[in-house]
Formats: sequence, structure tokens, C-alpha cells
Amino acid sequence: MCGLALSGMVAGTALPDPAGAGTERAAAVRGPDCPPGTTARLAEPGSDTVTDSGELTPEQAARYNDRLREALRSLRSHEIAPPGTVPVVVHVISATDGRGHVSDARIRDQIDVLNTAYSGGYDAAGADTGFRFTLSEVTRSENDAWFSDFNGHRDRIRSELHRGGADTLNIYTADLGTGLLGYSSFPQDHAAAPDQDGVVLAHDTLPGGGRERFGLGHTGTHEVGHWLGLFHTFQNGCTTPGDYVGDTPYEREAAAGCPQGRDSCPHRGGRDPVTNFMDYSDDDCMTHFTEGQARRMAEHWAAFRSPHRP
Ligand code: ARG
Ligand code: ZN
Ligand code: CA
Repeated sequence: MCGLALSGMVAGTALPDPAGAGTERAAAVRGPDCPPGTTARLAEPGSDTVTDSGELTPEQAARYNDRLREALRSLRSHEIAPPGTVPVVVHVISATDGRGHVSDARIRDQIDVLNTAYSGGYDAAGADTGFRFTLSEVTRSENDAWFSDFNGHRDRIRSELHRGGADTLNIYTADLGTGLLGYSSFPQDHAAAPDQDGVVLAHDTLPGGGRERFGLGHTGTHEVGHWLGLFHTFQNGCTTPGDYVGDTPYEREAAAGCPQGRDSCPHRGGRDPVTNFMDYSDDDCMTHFTEGQARRMAEHWAAFRSPHRP
């Protein structure tokens, strides 16, 4: 079995002091018998953002959903329009000895992966979400402390480097340790901490980085899904409302590897969505978003990120 143990450390690095009040900030690190890569997850500090930190509690997910519903009340349905193109700024943090260097070519490949994934290009049944991504800027910081202990310097790094408004996707790459692939803020968090908004990726998860089982760039696909408001497909397990998406079957827990055909909620319809980008399967197992997820991302965009929102 692959159990969860609570720890204040990620890959030997102490977590920063909590910035706000309330949520748990310990890293959840799975035991040594777990497959690498699906292991540690880290709490995002500030407000309620705990993406990939042992998951959101049902209450936290409900609060995020309440805020979505509330924001949508002031929008007309025609305003939930296809979102169009998202400008992307990539911030590469690397060591002075060259570790963590991500070439411009690999960055372009990551953007291509996002565009293929979000247009449904990895699966004939995949939704075209309407989102497209275009690289607008790359910043490069050579800093050993920032590279090897991103999470210990996270708030400072992000407030120094962050660019643009709610509609700009900021992606940071660094060494996140052995167990952590990435994490993200949610759209609802932007207003309270605009310069902390964005996605953090282990540098070797970008295409060509050689991260075992997670080297195709779908950590980026997955984290951008959070950045656009999606929960994990296993949010709330077999219990209503699950991931708040109607066309993703319920799932008791995260998938590892590629357990096709698994049915962990036998009393609920459908097999587990292990090939969905919002599960924890290996990169070569993940193929699609659903129409319901596309709709939910468009809602979050209209409510929290669109430059045209009222
Ligand atoms: N946030 C997840 C983790 O750190 C990322 C899962 C991404 N999955 C993938 N196949 N790339 O564990
Ligand atoms: Zn996640
Ligand atoms: Ca669902």
C-alpha cells in the first residue's frame, strides 16, 4: 500500500512560515513504497489554496464552488464565451552550475503540449476547451537558493517575477524535490494575492526533461487545469458532488500508473476517469478533458480571469 504521512518537510526542505491563517500547510509525503512522482504534494500558502497538498477538503472545495456560483450570478450566460488565447510568461529558475536550465525549445514544446491538450488533440473523444496558449515572455533567474528551495522562497520569487493580470498565465520552473511534480493557485485566489497567481512545475516535467513517467509535459496540462478552476477527478471520492463536473465519473482515490478499467465507485456510473488530465496517472496515460470540464474552465475564466469580465 501507498499511505499518506504528514510531514513538515519536502525533500529535506523546511516549508516557509505560513503567510495567512487557517489552512494546513504541511506537505503530505507518501511512504517509500509509493511510485515516485505521485508522492509528495505541497500546500499552497495564502487563502485556501491547497492544490496538490493532500487535496482540498470537501469544505474547501465547497467554498471555492460557492465563490464561483456567486461570481457567475452577475454574468449572463452568453458572457461565458470561448476564452480564446492566454498569454504565457515562463520564469525559469536555474542553478549557477546549469541545473534546471530549460531551453527555449523545450518551453515552446510545453506550450505546444498545452495547445494540443486543450484542443482535444490527444484523444478523439477529448473536448476542445477553446483555450489556446501563446508564449509572450521568458525570464531567466540563476539563483542556487531559489532553484534548490523554491518552496522556501516561493512568495518572494513570485512577487518579484510575476507579470500581467488575471488573464496571464505565469509558469515557474525549479527543482521541487523528488516527490513533487507541480502545484497551482486557483482563479478564486487571484484577487487577494494577484502576484502569487500561477503554476509551479518541476523543471524536468517539461517535455524533454526526462522525468520518469512524467516527462511528456502533462504536469503542465494538469496544473493549468487547476489554474482554470478544475478539481481532481477524485475530489470527494464517491460522494456527491465529486469534482463538481457532471460528465466525469466518480472515483474513490487518485490513480497511479494507468489502471485502465478500474471502477472504484461501483455504485456510481462509469469506470474511473484514469485517462483524464485531472487524475494522477502517468503522462502517457492521460489523454483528455471532458466537455463538462471545458465548460467549468470557461466559467472560471469568465468569472475571475477574463479581461472582459464586468
Ligand atoms: N500535482 C500532481 C503532483 O504533484 C501532479 C500530477 C500530474 N500528473 C501527471 N501525470 N503529470 O503529484
Ligand atoms: Zn493536481
Ligand atoms: Ca464528476
